[in-house]
Amino acid sequence: TERLRVLSGIQPTAGSFHLGNYLGAVRQWVELQETHDAFYSIVDLHAITIPQDPQALRDATRLAAAQLLGAGLDPTRCTLFVQSQVPEHAQLAWVLNCVTGFGEASRMTQFKDKSAKQGAEATTVGLFTYPVLQAADILLYHAHEVPVGEDQRQHIELTRDLAERFNGRFDGTLTVPRAYILKEAAKIYDLQDPAVKMSKSASSPKGIVWLMDEPKTSAKKFRSAVTDTDTVIRYDPVDKPGLSNLLTIYAALTGIGVQELEEKFTGQLYGPLKVELAEVFSDWVSPFRARTQEYLDDPAELDRILAIGAEKARAVAAGTLADVYDKVGF
Ligand code: ADP
Ligand code: NA
Repeated sequence: TERLRVLSGIQPTAGSFHLGNYLGAVRQWVELQETHDAFYSIVDLHAITIPQDPQALRDATRLAAAQLLGAGLDPTRCTLFVQSQVPEHAQLAWVLNCVTGFGEASRMTQFKDKSAKQGAEATTVGLFTYPVLQAADILLYHAHEVPVGEDQRQHIELTRDLAERFNGRFDGTLTVPRAYILKEAAKIYDLQDPAVKMSKSASSPKGIVWLMDEPKTSAKKFRSAVTDTDTVIRYDPVDKPGLSNLLTIYAALTGIGVQELEEKFTGQLYGPLKVELAEVFSDWVSPFRARTQEYLDDPAELDRILAIGAEKARAVAAGTLADVYDKVGF
C-alpha cells in the first residue's frame, strides 16, 4: 500500500523557532515522516510578501533548515527543500492566480487581518495572492493531506476549490487535498499572557521561549511564567490558563499525561513545578541546540542537503507543471 503524501511549509524567520512552532508543527512533521510520504518546504517566497533584508532572509532560511534537521527531520525519510529553489512554485502560482476570483481572494481572513494592520499602501499584491502560492505549494506535489493549524483551514479550502475548478475547466488531474488539522493539545500559549498563543509577534518577549536561546534564559521564563493566585495544581484551561499551559508543555515534552502530572504534583505549590519544567525543557533543548548548531557550523553540508532536497522536489513538481501547462494551452 502506498503512503499518503503530505506537504507542509514553514516560513524562515529570524531568531529561531519558538516552543509553539515546535510542539504545534515541527514535532508532528518529524512523526509524519515515518508514516507518510512527506514533503516539507521552507517557504522563502512567502517570506518576501512583507519587507525583508536579503542577508537576514538567507540566514533565516539556513537557520530554519538547521533547526528542522536538529529536530529530527531526516532527509532520507522525507523531502526537505527551500521553496525558491524549485521555480515551479512561482510558475504554477501564476496559472492558479488566473483561475482565482478577485472576490474569492479578498475573502481570505488572514489577508484581511494583516492588510488592515499594515494599511493598503504598505500591503503588497504578493500578500494578497499568498494563499494562491500556498495552493501551488500543495498541488504541485499532489499532496493528499496538508498538516496545518486550525488558522489555515480557509486557505486549504481555497486550495481545494482551485484544484476542483482547474480540473473541471481544463480536464486537469490535480489532487484535491484535505486539511490534516494538527492536534489541538499542541497549542501553546504565551508564558506572560496565557490568553494569547505563543507567537513571534508577541508584545512581551518574556512570554516566548526561543529554541536557540541559552537554556538559562528559557529556564528563567518558565520560572516567572504568569499563573493564577490559587495554589492547587489542576489542569483547567478556563480558570487556570497559565498553569494549564505549563502542564501542556510539560506533558508534551515528557510524554507524561496531564492527569499523571496533577497527581505527581499534588500538594505542591506552583514554584516547584515551574522549576522542574525548566529542567525538563533544558534537558530536551540542549541536544536539539547542539544538533542544530552542528548544521549551522557547516553551511556547505547544509546547502548540499538542501540541494538534494530541491532536486527530489523538482522531480515531482516539474511533472505536475508540465501537465498543467499542457492543459492550459502552453
Ligand atoms: P507565529 O504565530 O509565531 O507567527 P507561524 O504563524 O509562523 O508562527 O507558525 C508556524 C507554525 O507553527 C504553524 O504551523 C503554526 O500553526 C505553528 N504555531 C505557531 N504558534 C503556535 C503555538 N503557539 N502553538 C502551537 N502551534 C503554533
Ligand atoms: Na502566525
